Amino acid sequence: MLVSAEEMLTKAKAGKYAVGQFNINNLEWTKAILQTAQELNSPVILGVSEGAGKYMCGYKTVVGMVNGMLEELNITVPVALHLDHGSYEGAKACIEAGFSSIMFDGSHYPIEENVAKTKELVAICKEKGMSIEAEVGSIGGEEDGVVGAGECADPEECKMIADLGVTMLAAGIGNIHGKYPENWAGLSFETLDAVQQKTGAMPLVLHGGTGIPADMIQKAISLGVSKINVNTECQLSFQEATRKYIEAGKDLEGKGFDPRKLLAPGTEAIKQTVKEKMELFGSVGKA
Ligand code: 13P
Repeated sequence: MLVSAEEMLTKAKAGKYAVGQFNINNLEWTKAILQTAQELNSPVILGVSEGAGKYMCGYKTVVGMVNGMLEELNITVPVALHLDHGSYEGAKACIEAGFSSIMFDGSHYPIEENVAKTKELVAICKEKGMSIEAEVGSIGGEEDGVVGAGECADPEECKMIADLGVTMLAAGIGNIHGKYPENWAGLSFETLDAVQQKTGAMPLVLHGGTGIPADMIQKAISLGVSKINVNTECQLSFQEATRKYIEAGKDLEGKGFDPRKLLAPGTEAIKQTVKEKMELFGSVGKA
């Protein structure tokens, strides 16, 4: 059964580790992430962007697929199904469809409007036992059409949004979706520290997990980050393994064209990436 992300993140914050949010794109992605979490006895959050939701034929299809897998694959570790960077409408649709967690990304609204909409969604989520993530500041780069300038969060605004009763808070600290540019200045630990001092026990979320060096990840966890989002890195692992398979001409040998064979190396590569991240984040054995 899907669970809210609240308990797993509260435990992570107290235990000084982070739970990975891995974004899903299709059946292979979902299966790879769930099997790895089960194998490593780790809690996990499946992230679904609005674009990926559409691609997978809508939120109800996603809920059906994930619930089916939890049962058929005997997944017993805590799994949350979470809307990533949700709009107000998207958040409502996911609540309706049976997600167990949502992110409302109101960071592009003026703060008053962000507050009003977040408040309303917090009330609905509380009633349904769901977790809700809010964002202050913005995550740089582009993800599925959501473009952010990447400004650092104002700790006072973070406190204001945290006090609305959200479960977890994403604060922009110089992180970027997708690959980091050569001249990237790194994470602003000063901002993160100030945000944590204002928000106390609230689990903090680090977006743009792809390509952040291990030492920065560890430092971020030590400063209160308890959820780390990874998307691009699984896509790159899948792409590289699939390219190798085709370039080696394996699709031309025997039944190598069978999608179950063609997609297998990419799926295995996703598992490997998820395993490495779970080990780095410290969530292994914490289910
Ligand atoms: P990356 O694609 O950079 O890993 O970011 C993922 C993310 O933050 C999802 O919200």
